[in-house]
Amino acid sequence: MRVLGIETSCDETGVAVYDTRDGLLAHALHSQIPLHAPYGGVVPELASRDHVSKLVPMIEAIMAEADVGRADIDGIAYTAGPGLVGALMVGATVSQGLGFAWDRPTLGVHHLEGHLLAPMLGPDAPVMPCLALLVSGGHTQLVEVAGVGRYTLLGESLDDAAGEAFDKTAKLLGLPYPGGAALAALAERGDSGAFALPRPMLDRPGLDFSFSGLKTAVLLARGEGELGEQQHADLAASFQAAVVDTLVTKTLRALDATGLRCCVVSGGVSANTRLREALTEGARARGVTVHFPRMEFCTDNGAMIAYAGAQRLAAGQADAGSPQVRARWPLVELPPVGEEVR
Ligand code: KG4
Ligand code: ZN
Repeated sequence: MRVLGIETSCDETGVAVYDTRDGLLAHALHSQIPLHAPYGGVVPELASRDHVSKLVPMIEAIMAEADVGRADIDGIAYTAGPGLVGALMVGATVSQGLGFAWDRPTLGVHHLEGHLLAPMLGPDAPVMPCLALLVSGGHTQLVEVAGVGRYTLLGESLDDAAGEAFDKTAKLLGLPYPGGAALAALAERGDSGAFALPRPMLDRPGLDFSFSGLKTAVLLARGEGELGEQQHADLAASFQAAVVDTLVTKTLRALDATGLRCCVVSGGVSANTRLREALTEGARARGVTVHFPRMEFCTDNGAMIAYAGAQRLAAGQADAGSPQVRARWPLVELPPVGEEVR
């Protein structure tokens, strides 16, 4: 089965063609960063308008690159949520239009399921059952995965997501939007032991996270005066170490509690080098394998939506009526696909 995948949930337009036999045939991404940068964050109306102008030409280009025509596409998968409703509507309505015109099924995909399954596109695909740490700009969740669509939420952030904490802290340090990756780059030049920042909720049992206090701690550590360049880097490194410590400790705790032998880490923050190193090391000590997406598929992309959509379309799932988009959408509400893996 060959699926066209469309991602428009936030500030990136992503398209891809995935074939369940031949793998990923082509993918393309357009980032809106320069569009939103002057405002210091995503402006939803601008995001929607940009998706409108970019999406159809990108679909034409990707199909040409994959050397497929409309008759070669068996289904269309688009991100239906969670995300910005106006932005999601663009992908959903274009998908519906193509579905009508080509007489093919469409399917609304859960953005986080796309992230969760993104490591399956790599050479080192995980084997279920596994534990998933989903760390994006909007979500931080630990999920037990018994198969596609068989998810149990073990813990999540009670306030800011890890990526959101990176972005907000970057802003505090004067870095331009979107700050997460820039903060991580700055941290490479800093001393992570320079500032003693809290490790939120590590002293409590359970698998939930809290990151909003960490941002306040950075604000206090920064103080009123101007920090020098090295102190900025030190503060960035100290912040990154606190987030990574917290994510790693809770993930290892979840592995111990569930006895799972495989761990998946995905979403924008899974691009973080320190997180990748620390989790790989901690898991190796337990004999657990850790799987990350390819770097380019850590952040939002169309390939993960095409992949997730293909799993469900191939199992006979499809939209029943007009596409529905959802700003909020708990992952655990998804219907299962196939058998539970034990
Ligand atoms: O998954 P994603 O592209 O979008 C959402 O679904 O939210 O994740 C974006 C998030 C942003 O908050 C960004 O700051 C963060 O991922 N991010 C990083 C890095 N690269 C992206 N955070 C830490 N280190 C990075 N290298
Ligand atoms: Zn995302």
